[in-house]
Amino acid sequence: MTDLISIARSLVAPGKGLLAADESTHTAVKRLASYGIETSEEMRRQYRDLFLGTPGVEGYLSGVILYEETLGQKGDDQKLFPKSLIDRGIEPGIKVDQGTEPFPESSDELITSGLIGLPERLAAYAKTGTTFTKWRAVITIEGDTLPSAQAIHENARRLASYAKEVQAAGMVPILEPEVLLDGKHSRERAKEVIRETLSTLFTVLDEHAVDRSGVILKTAMALTGAASQKKDTPEEVAEATVEALMAAVPREVPGIVFLSGGQSPDEATENLAAIAKRAHEKGAPWPLTFSYARALQEEALSIWKGKAENVPAARAAFLERLKKVSAASRG
Ligand code: 13P
Repeated sequence: MTDLISIARSLVAPGKGLLAADESTHTAVKRLASYGIETSEEMRRQYRDLFLGTPGVEGYLSGVILYEETLGQKGDDQKLFPKSLIDRGIEPGIKVDQGTEPFPESSDELITSGLIGLPERLAAYAKTGTTFTKWRAVITIEGDTLPSAQAIHENARRLASYAKEVQAAGMVPILEPEVLLDGKHSRERAKEVIRETLSTLFTVLDEHAVDRSGVILKTAMALTGAASQKKDTPEEVAEATVEALMAAVPREVPGIVFLSGGQSPDEATENLAAIAKRAHEKGAPWPLTFSYARALQEEALSIWKGKAENVPAARAAFLERLKKVSAASRG
């Protein structure tokens, strides 16, 4: 268990955070297409190498969440990606859920699958050097009707079963119940849903005897729904987010990381800075940092466009964003 605690602590080391580079093949194809990039397995390898091969990322990244296909691919340095990260002091992690499907009890909501065969997959992943894992559940807000208590509970139950298996395999589970930004809901409603989702999660984790000191929580920020015309100030986001976390997350949890969820790179950076500052003022017990996919990748992808000659400029933009987000995590 000491090992789990030290891995978890290193993931939230001061000034560092995570790159979520764990888009499934389906998502990667869609994401790259939105930048006019056609994908093949080789193109996805180049896409990963654009980020993982950027010189200097070890100054800002404590870990990278990988997708299964990437574990077996090599960077331009001719090393397998997990090995290349380890050699630079970055923890390689792996997304282990297998995506979402409609929840039979409430068909407008989603439930995450991936528990079947999980112990065997974990044993195989551990051999590649991965030290932590991620499971994403999705919580949908729809007025006052969704999320349903059943969807929150069943997603929590699966997160707990996942966490138990991962700890038994000697890796740190990242628990990501993502409350979606989609919709017209208020920031107050998002805050309440995050609080309720996390309270349920930690109750169910206890029932499954998951060690709280060997997990990392990954959460959304409390934001007004994207379909609403209203924009929150970073101070408003910080106030609501820190309140939800203080009400629901036990102090033994070694760290909390945020997803960007569709915010622009600047919004995700400014909101993180305000949250870190507010958490400090409120005496929050956990280190807080980033675990972004889109907000870290967006600027670089729009420069890269899949062309070798654009790699240096794209990497410079990525490094610049990492510097800003790292500074933000310090408040
Ligand atoms: P975004 O930062 O793009 O929301 O992605 C984070 C993530 O890991 C989603 O599962």
